[in-house]
Amino acid sequence: MEQTDFLVIGSGIAGLSYALKVAQRFPDKRVLVITKTRIDETNTKYAQGGIAGVTDFEHDSYEKHIQDTLVAGDGLCNPVTVEIVVKEGPARIQEIVDWGTRFDKDSEGDYKLGREGGHSEFRILHHKDVTGKEIERALLETIGKQKNIEVHKHWFVLDLITQHHLGYLVTKSTPDIECYGVYALDQHTNKIVRILSKITLLATGGNGQAYRTTTNPKIATGDGVAMVYRAKGRIENMEFIQFHPTALFEAGVSPSFLITEAVRGDGGILRNAKEEAFMERYDERRDLAPRDIVARAIDSEMKRTGTEHVYLDCRHMDIEKFIEHFPNIYAKCKSIGIDVATQMIPVAPAAHYSCGGIKVDEWGRTSINHLYACGECSSTGLHGANRLASNSLLEALVFAHRCYLDSVELIDVLDFKEGIPDWNAEGTTEPEEMILITQSGKELQQLMSDYVGIVRTHTRLQRAMKRLDLLHEEIETLYESTTVSPQLCEVRNLITVGYLIVKEASFRRESRGLHYNTDYPQKSPILQNIVL
Ligand code: FAD
Ligand code: SIN
Repeated sequence: MEQTDFLVIGSGIAGLSYALKVAQRFPDKRVLVITKTRIDETNTKYAQGGIAGVTDFEHDSYEKHIQDTLVAGDGLCNPVTVEIVVKEGPARIQEIVDWGTRFDKDSEGDYKLGREGGHSEFRILHHKDVTGKEIERALLETIGKQKNIEVHKHWFVLDLITQHHLGYLVTKSTPDIECYGVYALDQHTNKIVRILSKITLLATGGNGQAYRTTTNPKIATGDGVAMVYRAKGRIENMEFIQFHPTALFEAGVSPSFLITEAVRGDGGILRNAKEEAFMERYDERRDLAPRDIVARAIDSEMKRTGTEHVYLDCRHMDIEKFIEHFPNIYAKCKSIGIDVATQMIPVAPAAHYSCGGIKVDEWGRTSINHLYACGECSSTGLHGANRLASNSLLEALVFAHRCYLDSVELIDVLDFKEGIPDWNAEGTTEPEEMILITQSGKELQQLMSDYVGIVRTHTRLQRAMKRLDLLHEEIETLYESTTVSPQLCEVRNLITVGYLIVKEASFRRESRGLHYNTDYPQKSPILQNIVL
């Protein structure tokens, strides 16, 4: 058994920035960060375009950023959250700069600001086209100097510990569910350890791996959302899965390499198989319309022309400038035989971001006591029905800070819970056939991509639910009889996430933002978040 004052699950931007803050504020308290593979293997590391924030007050304003976020969110953003994130964002960005993050600047020393879909101004701070890698580097270097932060790498968190583990019946209507820590699998020893904590933060990231084609790395399996759902906490807006319009099309390669929206911000043009620039037929903002609109337009062009991808044309752009801003994309394209200066880049939409997740309030508090959530696993109300590009790194920083402020108030009145039992592995044996697990994962990705993608129908959702029921039954049987492994738990968590997406999508009898159902093509006059 282990004990820690602060337990942080996840080593991306959300988890690391929270860990740093509580550790610096309380040098005598222990902060434990758990991460399931390598420390930097996170969605954060792959972020390309950058982080949105108002820094150029001559051309931009908080009001414009707020307005762009609300327009992208299609009526479902919480305006209070939007204002909080936009107005507190610049101070949080300055903190990561102080921790060593380098954003690109021009010869005058001003930030070189990028632009992406849905933004009315240039406001994206970036480090070439590898912004996330730079942020992760700076955070990890700073963490390394903080003596009271310990990191458990290759530890897999299995479940939250609540009253349920003390033998009490816990349901959705139990008023004061409490989190006492977690059970986690130490992958070095294969032992399951009880970790008791006073305060726990979930920063477990997204769930793109629920789909066959995704920009998300393998770690993005929705573990935090599934754990909270099992612990009877509240989950909302899972139907709003954002498909990035322009992932590099490479048959059979997973995850897909992203071609940042900033390329379109710098002038890249989408063309169909006949080389026609088609976006003007879909939206007056053309290639820089919000993501839901561009992804649907591409989907429609692909279906119309019977192709598996469209093209991003950068041939007219200044190649020197392109290479300076997008060296990583240029090199990747070159490595597969595409010369961006003379050839178009084949692109197709890919599952990219989960707008919904663990429901939290304006301080990052979940519906379970002493349990916070921030970053992509949480649902703060910022994104509504569709996230504005480059708002997620910003949201993670602002809410990590808010979770920290609230934790400061709480930590000294909390104690460790006694009497927590060991993990119960009775009746389980080593899996005889790993294929049963991997095949369930593949079936899930296939059905989510086929039936719960960019365009949905009532019948497709019904079909998806029937297949999910079967997958759920099979994985639960396996889970009860098999020694736990990350592979088994990830597939189980993804099936739960799939269920939540389909369930909430089925309740939403309208088309709004990222949720487009041809049986209900209109928007409902009633604005609602769907909470399970
Ligand atoms: P992550 O960075 O994903 O970290 C999750 C952590 O949780 C990992 O350390 C993981 O190991 C750990 N974890 C998960 N489950 C468990 C478990 N069971 N046990 C132990 N540890 C666990 N957003 C922007 O704002 N701007 C961009 O330019 C941008 N570009 C993007 C490009 C790509 C290719 C992708 C995939 C995303 C992009 N995004 C961008 C989105 C953004 O990167 C993510 O939303 C954000 O980084 C999420 O940060 P996070 O800290 O919440 O989670
Ligand atoms: C991109 O660079 O296009 C991704 C930005 C984001 O997901 O916010």
